Amino acid sequence: MRDIGVAVLGTGFMGRVHVEALRRAGVGVRGALGSSAEKSRAFAERHGLAQGYRDFDAVLADREVHAVHVGTPNRLHFAQVRAALEAGKHVLCEKPLALNAEESARLVELATKRPRQAAGVNYNLRYYPLCLEARARVRAGELGRVFHVAGSYVQDWLLRESDYNWRVLEGEGGALRAVADIGTHWLDLAHAVTGLEVEAVCADLATVHPARRRPRCEVETFQGKGRQVTETEPVEITTDDYGAILLRFAGGARGSLWVSQVTAGRKNALRLELAGSRRALAWESERPNELWLGERDGPNGLLLKDPSLLGEYARRAADNPGGHNEGYADTFKQLFRDFYGYIAAGNFDAPPPYPTFADGHREMRLCEAVLDSHRRGGWVTLKGAHA
Ligand SMILES: NC(=O)c1ccc[n+]([C@@H]2O[C@H](COP(=O)([O-])OP(=O)(O)OC[C@H]3O[C@@H](n4cnc5c(N)ncnc54)[C@H](O)[C@@H]3O)[C@@H](O)[C@H]2O)c1
Repeated sequence: MRDIGVAVLGTGFMGRVHVEALRRAGVGVRGALGSSAEKSRAFAERHGLAQGYRDFDAVLADREVHAVHVGTPNRLHFAQVRAALEAGKHVLCEKPLALNAEESARLVELATKRPRQAAGVNYNLRYYPLCLEARARVRAGELGRVFHVAGSYVQDWLLRESDYNWRVLEGEGGALRAVADIGTHWLDLAHAVTGLEVEAVCADLATVHPARRRPRCEVETFQGKGRQVTETEPVEITTDDYGAILLRFAGGARGSLWVSQVTAGRKNALRLELAGSRRALAWESERPNELWLGERDGPNGLLLKDPSLLGEYARRAADNPGGHNEGYADTFKQLFRDFYGYIAAGNFDAPPPYPTFADGHREMRLCEAVLDSHRRGGWVTLKGAHA
């Protein structure tokens, strides 16, 4: 995998995490592109990369770049992914894949025409060892028939009206924010664990701050917290700070998801709970090394992440012994291993083990249905589904 050269687009939160995780996965990072040549150079220097690119054309023209990681604001994803695929590169795009389902459908089509180029979306949370274990257990029938899938994804970094990042603007991040930004992580995880397809949604969204104060300088993700910004201007906000969504899955299971980016004290709290006919199961991102198993006729169980206690499917993503915790950054490393392992194996007829553009498109279709449901005030069936 060392022969594969990667360029990372975006030098913010994700740019940093991707570079570190690529290296830990044993993949060569060739260079990075920021919003200016100067930012690219500074980032390349800080991270010891050979190239801090002048512009995106320089990335595309670099023959040593075989794969491009897109970690820029959402509005740039479509054009950057399309150009990278057309230049013959493999592409791993951050979530959400695009601004809307029309764009993501076009990217799926383009990727399908280029079967020898890997095209993935970075739904990394699937790669927590205990999420993989949950998946293996659910798919093996250990829960019995799954009745309902419930949970939440809650943060506090956009609590105040002075909290700002490009995401809060519809033109930068898309019409949906909390739902697209963190809700789709939950929806992807629920799908990866259960295999259940959402058929219909009923959503209620709220914008807690219809106006925010935009700093006159750039504020990268989470950087507004703890930083004093004095020069600001008012900006109108139409995207959701909060959302509640009821879900109906094919086959009859029900679900509910609650998302918020304005809940004080919840830093990055994803919770997924499944109720089945034999037992229940729950996992939380802020205690990621514990999997709760709910029993009706005996003591409940708490499975700790320890490779010796996991099945084969999850063990591959548990690099550290029990008690030596695996965390957020490790999920990127594991996803990248799957992505580049697939490329290195060269068998592009095999089903990809990582989240694909089809998964990214599923999430965009769900977002579209959520927005439609909120605006209509009722249930919306996903196109192509027969609820
Ligand atoms: N998988 C995850 O857990 C996860 C977490 C956070 C963000 N994300 C996704 O990653 C993407 C980036 O989010 P972030 O949180 O890193 O944002 P960020 O604001 O921290 O960083 C974005 C960076 O992109 C740079 N940029 C802007 N225009 C550019 C251009 N034309 N070319 C190159 N760089 C440019 C900005 O200067 C900034 O450094 C988003 O799509 C977001 O949804 C995913």
